Amino acid sequence: VSAKNDPAANQLIMFKEKTSGPIGIMTTSAGAPVEHKDTNTLNSRLIFNEYFMDSLTHTVRERIPERVVHAVAGGAFGYFEVTHDITHICKAKLFSRVGKKTPVAARFSPVVVERGGSDTSRDARGFAVKFYTEEGNFDIVGFNTPMFLYKDPVIFPTFVHALKKNPANNLFDTNSFWDFLTLQPETFHMFLLVFGDRGIPDGYHHMPGFGIHTFEVVNGHGSKYFVRFHFVPDAGIKNLRSEDAKKISSEDADYNTRTLYRSIANGDFPSWTVSLQILSLDDVKNARLDVFDVTKVLPLDEYPLHPVGKMVLNKNAVNYFAEIEQLAFSPGNLVPGILGGPDKLFEGRRLAYREAQHYRLGANFNRIPVNCPIQTKVLEYNRDGVPPLKDNGKDIPNYYPNSFNGPVPYKDHKRGELLQIFEEDPNNFEQARELYINEMTKEERSRLVENVLYRLGPAAKFLQERALKIFYIIHPDLGSRIEQGLLANGTKYDWNRY
Ligand code: HEM
Repeated sequence: VSAKNDPAANQLIMFKEKTSGPIGIMTTSAGAPVEHKDTNTLNSRLIFNEYFMDSLTHTVRERIPERVVHAVAGGAFGYFEVTHDITHICKAKLFSRVGKKTPVAARFSPVVVERGGSDTSRDARGFAVKFYTEEGNFDIVGFNTPMFLYKDPVIFPTFVHALKKNPANNLFDTNSFWDFLTLQPETFHMFLLVFGDRGIPDGYHHMPGFGIHTFEVVNGHGSKYFVRFHFVPDAGIKNLRSEDAKKISSEDADYNTRTLYRSIANGDFPSWTVSLQILSLDDVKNARLDVFDVTKVLPLDEYPLHPVGKMVLNKNAVNYFAEIEQLAFSPGNLVPGILGGPDKLFEGRRLAYREAQHYRLGANFNRIPVNCPIQTKVLEYNRDGVPPLKDNGKDIPNYYPNSFNGPVPYKDHKRGELLQIFEEDPNNFEQARELYINEMTKEERSRLVENVLYRLGPAAKFLQERALKIFYIIHPDLGSRIEQGLLANGTKYDWNRY
């Protein structure tokens, strides 16, 4: 794309073109007009220069904590449109009729990369969608992989440590990476996908999304169903090869963010077909695998996809920080008819996101415009705290129960209770094996081996051996190819190359 015609490169030029001259008189944040000579501070008393005081004290407060994971992202706005009726399984008004449109916000993000890092590194990607429904916000906080690394939320804090930078030298650490993975071998299923061709999407408009958890939903009669959400990009799935990604990231650390922004600005709107795998309570009872296990996929031949709608992103943020950085997604943002996942990981996540956003954005993070429900009125008993406050509940009673016409509870007689499930540690590699043998092409298997060697080469010998044992269990062919690669290239994978 030549820079001349690229909206991502020419935002300032385009701003100038849509205005006929300066848009107004510059002011302090309190609105007082600023005289230009005030900026000439030499030999003047700084304390009297309100512009200087105002801008300096604000600039040094511009940073807020980055997300502990998923710090780097592209995002946009659009809508979800129902194309197929699913009211027989879910009563959420979002799905109430074919043709219904609900506004959405979406944010796509590598997991481990930190602010300023490259968005084409080999990693899984977050795929987070906020549906601004008439019953409040419903968030699907998913990934571009149909499975997750582990089942137990207690692992999350140290998992983040192991994959992020080493606290002693602030460098990514191959040994902590392989140590964590090999001590938690259920991670290998997702690992194979990320180290195969799926690890570096070529543009977010070519990236699929998955809700991963099996969500419990109820219909208007109160009958339970269980669904997994799939978003399949209408432009097709496309990924970058390692060599291309390395080249791109050395020239443009924001490639995926840029191509998303550019395609939307050019009117080439990314879209996804949204489908569900649907299970009845009987299906759940009779399943030959634990359908709530997030480290597993539900086989598509047994549980086929049922299309439900389309998601289209047709609007870039006007201001990235306000509209994308401040987005606060949470698996706990559910609406009547969608009860969420009954699994422990989902339960743990309901706390984690809320807690992260309190820290990152403050107690009133849901009053930040981009997190406010658009189609329904908020009537809560929360009051005060750090801004933004919106109308802070005006003069409505601030305690419940009360006798003065404050908001009253919603009654949903057909709500349904979240299924009680018993979870065990997963200890098989069946799906990882299937992925390697049946789903990857011969060429992809070779690229997987190359990508693994690239990462495993610099690891300590005992970690290479521990990893090899797992690769052999997944499939002897995989184990022996990696072993041969390590033997043949013992010195090739050194720190300089990493
Ligand atoms: C952030 C997905 C598991 C804690 C995110 C984001 C996504 C995501 C997409 C970025 C949201 C955004 O764009 O703002 C997932 C998926 C998981 C998973 C699909 C497993 C199925 C977990 C677990 C925990 C956790 C187990 C902790 C118990 C967090 C936290 C953030 C985050 C604290 C940062 C939130 C913020 O600062 O707004 N995750 N995650 N995640 N995740 Fe997860």
